[in-house]
Amino acid sequence: MCGIVGYTGPRDCLPILIGGLERLEYRGYDSAGVAVVTGDSPDDYSLEIRKEEGKLQGLKDLVEAQPVSGTFGIAHTRWATHGAPNQINAHPHTDETDHIALVHNGIIENCDALREMLKTKGHTFHTETDTEVLCHLVGEYWDGSLEKAVAAALRIVEGAYGIAVISDLDPGKIVGARKGSPLVVGVGDGEYFVASDVAAILSHTNQVIYLADEEMVVVTRRGFRTQTLNEIPIAKDVEEITWELSQAEKGGYEHFMLKEIFEQPRCIQNAIRGRLEDDGWRAHIGGLNISDEELARVERVVFLACGTSWHAAMIGEYMIEEYCRLPVEVEYASEFRYRDPVIDGKTLVLVISQSGETADTLAAMREAQRRGAMALGICNVVGSTIAREADGGMYIHAGPEIGVASTKAFTSQVATLAVLTLHLARIHGLSDEPARSLIHGLRRIPDQMEAILADASHCRVVAEKYAHHANCLYLGRGYNFPVALEGALKLKEISYVHAEGYPAAEMKHGPIALIDENMPVVFICTKDRAYDKIKSNMAEVKARSGRIIAVATEGDTHVEGIADDVFYIPQTIDALVPLLSVLPLQLYSYYVAVLRGCNVDQPRNLAKSVTVE
Ligand code: G6P
Repeated sequence: MCGIVGYTGPRDCLPILIGGLERLEYRGYDSAGVAVVTGDSPDDYSLEIRKEEGKLQGLKDLVEAQPVSGTFGIAHTRWATHGAPNQINAHPHTDETDHIALVHNGIIENCDALREMLKTKGHTFHTETDTEVLCHLVGEYWDGSLEKAVAAALRIVEGAYGIAVISDLDPGKIVGARKGSPLVVGVGDGEYFVASDVAAILSHTNQVIYLADEEMVVVTRRGFRTQTLNEIPIAKDVEEITWELSQAEKGGYEHFMLKEIFEQPRCIQNAIRGRLEDDGWRAHIGGLNISDEELARVERVVFLACGTSWHAAMIGEYMIEEYCRLPVEVEYASEFRYRDPVIDGKTLVLVISQSGETADTLAAMREAQRRGAMALGICNVVGSTIAREADGGMYIHAGPEIGVASTKAFTSQVATLAVLTLHLARIHGLSDEPARSLIHGLRRIPDQMEAILADASHCRVVAEKYAHHANCLYLGRGYNFPVALEGALKLKEISYVHAEGYPAAEMKHGPIALIDENMPVVFICTKDRAYDKIKSNMAEVKARSGRIIAVATEGDTHVEGIADDVFYIPQTIDALVPLLSVLPLQLYSYYVAVLRGCNVDQPRNLAKSVTVE
C-alpha cells in the first residue's frame, strides 16, 4: 500500500529509484513520482519533481523525456487514500517554499485540522492529499535542520506513516520515519537507502535495519543514525537478508501469480522442512517462544487475520478443533480491534499475515496482547512488524509473494498451521496414529501438488468455457468451505467476475434463487466426511439447470456424471484437502482473468500490503 524508496550516495540516484519502484509496484500502482536534488554545489542545488498518473511506465516515459540527475532522491508508487489517483495528487509533495519534498505511505488522521491551522499561517494547498499537509507542516517547522523539522511535525501528527523526506537546503540527507507503515534502511558501501520493503534495495545491499514505530532515521552518504521522535538516539542492529533477488523475479512465467502457483510444491517443502519428527510423530518448531507447559494451559484459541489469511485461519480453526479438541474462534482483525473482546491469559492468539504489516491485523494483535493474551505470529515476510512484535511464532517460508492475489502464501500458511496443530495437539493428548497420518499426509503434499499442476492446461480449457460469465458461486463443506471462500475471492480479485463462496448446505437459504443455466457453480466435493452430503447439494443445482464445475477426488466417476466439468485432485486426509483442492481454483481464476484481458498481478483498486485501516 504505497511504496517508498530513497537513495543517497555517490551514484546517480534516478535509475536506482526507478529500479526500486519496479520492485514496489505491487504495493500500489495509481501513480508514481520521484524527487531528486540536482546540482553540484549549494549555489545551484535544485529540487526537481517528476510525477505521473497511472502505472510506473508513465513515470519512466516522463523521466526519459525530462531527465533529472542527482546523488540523492526519493520516490513513491501510490495507492490512493486521500484524493483521486491523478498526477497532481501523486507523490512526492512539496512544502510551501518548494524546498522540501516528502513521500508517504499511510494516513494522517488529523490532516483536516492541520490544514486549517497551516492556512491561518499563510499556507496554500494544491492537492487533496494528507501528505501535502504533512510536508507543509515539516516546512512550517523548518529551522535549518531537516530532521528537527520532521521530528517536530511528527510529534503533532496522528495516524499512520512511513515517510522519506529530502530538501535542497540540507543536501545529501534523507530523513525517514515510521508509525504503522513499514520502513527499512539499506546499508551499502558508502551509500544508503530507505524503502518500504527490502525487495526495492536488495540488488544493492542485503544489510538492513528495521525501524520500529515512532522511530526516525537520518541517512547521508557517510552513515546513518536512528532516534526517537523526541530526538533521543537509539542503537539498531544491522540484519542480513538471506533471500535472493531472483526469488522476486518472474523467472520466465508470464505473471508473478502463475509463477507463485507453480512454486507451491517447493513452498510446502520449505514450510514443513525440519519441523516434523518421524520418530515419535511430533512437530519440532524453533522460535515459537512458548513452552509446552504454557501451551498445555491454553484453553481457547483465537485467530486474527484479514483476506486470504483469514481463509487460512478458518482451516486452522477446523484443524485445531479436530486434533486438539480446543474451542477456536476466527476473527476479522478489523472487527476484533474495535469490539470489546473476551481475552485472557489462557487464550492463545494466532495472528496470520503474509506481509506482517496489515494495519488491522497488527492493531488487533496489539489489542489482544494488551488484554494479556500470548500472541503468535504466522508471517511470511521476515522482520515484518507483526513478526517482530508477536511474542513468538512461525515463518511460513514461502519466499517473496509479489502477485497481489495470494496463492503460495495461502497454502504455506495452511501447511504451517498443520504443523502447529500437530504440536499443540500432541501436548493436548493426541494419540500416535492420527499424528502419524498427518505427518505422512503432509510429506506427500508436494508431489500431489505437482500432479495437479501438471494438468494446468485443463484448467485453461475449462476457463475458456466459462470466462464470459459475470457471476459464479463457490460451494464447499467442512474443510472445503474456506476453500470455496478462497476460490471465490481469487476469481473476483483478479477477473472482476462477481463470485460468492458459501457453505454448500446454506445454498438453499438464498443463493439457490440465483441458479439457472447462466450461473456456473463450483462445487468442491472431494471424498471426505462431507462427500455424501455435498453430492445431494450438487443434485439440487443440477435439477435447476445450473452449470457445475467440480473439484473431485481422482477416480470418482460418480461426480463426472453430474458435473459439466471436473478438476481431479489426489486423495489425502480431510485436514489437508484444502492444500490440494485450492490449486485448480487458483489456476481457473488465473486463466479466466487472462482470458478477460485483466492485469493479473496488479488488479484494479487492490494492493498487496494494506497498511491503512
Ligand atoms: C490484501 C491482499 C490479500 C491479503 C490481505 C491480507 O487484501 O490483497 O491478498 O490476503 O491483504 O494480507 P496479509 O499480508 O495480512 O496476509
